Amino acid sequence: MRACRSEPVPHTPVWFMRQAGRSLPEYLKVRDGIPMLDSCMRPELVKEITLQPVRRHKVDAAIYFSDIVVPLKAIGLDLDIKPGVGPVVADPIRSRADLERLRPLEPADVPYVTEAIGLLVAELGATPLIGFAGAPFTLASYLVEGGPSKNHERTKAMMYGEPELWAALLDRLADITAAFLKVQIEAGASAVQLFDSWVGALAPYDYRRSVMPASSKVFDAVAGYGVPRIHFGVGTGELLGLMGEAGADVVGVDWRVPLDEARRRVGAGKALQGNLDPAVLFAPEEAVRAKTGEVLAAAERLSGTGHIFNLGHGVLPTTDPDALTRLVAHVHEATAR
Ligand code: CP3
Repeated sequence: MRACRSEPVPHTPVWFMRQAGRSLPEYLKVRDGIPMLDSCMRPELVKEITLQPVRRHKVDAAIYFSDIVVPLKAIGLDLDIKPGVGPVVADPIRSRADLERLRPLEPADVPYVTEAIGLLVAELGATPLIGFAGAPFTLASYLVEGGPSKNHERTKAMMYGEPELWAALLDRLADITAAFLKVQIEAGASAVQLFDSWVGALAPYDYRRSVMPASSKVFDAVAGYGVPRIHFGVGTGELLGLMGEAGADVVGVDWRVPLDEARRRVGAGKALQGNLDPAVLFAPEEAVRAKTGEVLAAAERLSGTGHIFNLGHGVLPTTDPDALTRLVAHVHEATAR
């Protein structure tokens, strides 16, 4: 939490996107036979899965186990998470009439979120719990395409061809996302991360005009709680400044931009999170340490504060969990002040 606020810290804190999940045998065991979306609605199971990487790796934060499509399911959209594919939407959102299916989210739609976070906060003690949600653009991409997409062509067709419909869609998604984050903060989340995973598909001008207003609406809606707001996307090197401007306190950086350059793009006053390439963990230990050293050196060149160590994207499913445990210990040792 101090790193989020760019205050001095005893060592650089570490957590990993997707730290809870397929890389852990204990996760595969408890999830066995339970569909992904069902598992998100079982508070005791969510608590266990969220705690697994904290126990094993000694990371400095937990991230609430869920998925970005959970709030959309909660308002009644017919969608599922297909193993090996990702979120799939039965009837994509493509017209003004379709928008009516995106009704506002009420706390009563997600009682299992409040319950799971209550259980977690009681168990975690001083370890912060990060809540999260998908950002309007990334959610819109799944809803408009009907599933995962490489080129986001239907999404962009709506954005460029029907700007008013697009703006209305993103605005509804902003309200749903803000309501979902509020539930998590009110239940006890210490920080929130807004994942705009696929927004790196856009150029800065289009981001500013067609996406930033909705993302800013989400950040503004939770500003009053005073919890740090983290914003992350993949391939967003050209958007880092704007993503900070949208209202983040911490900007997540993938591995394509060194942190000292990211600092120049984001400007002073905001912390940075990242940014070891998750594939580096498949290299021998010395190489992991060398690449980690580069990340830490680039972070140190900024100011020595305001850095949260993370990967540049989620833990890859076949990562050796022991490599992650060693990485946490190494970052703690290497940065002890
Ligand atoms: O480890 C696991 O992947 C197991 C559980 C799981 C999650 N989501 C947890 C999750 C599964 C199977 C999914 C489905 C899903 N949803 C996928 C993966 C498809 C596959 O099989 O590879 C994807 C890409 C989505 C959509 C999604 N969910 C996005 C784009 C994001 C944002 C983060 C990112 O990866 O860019 C999520 C968030 C998410 N899903 C988290 C978790 C635990 C976020 C919290 C975290 O970082 O731990």
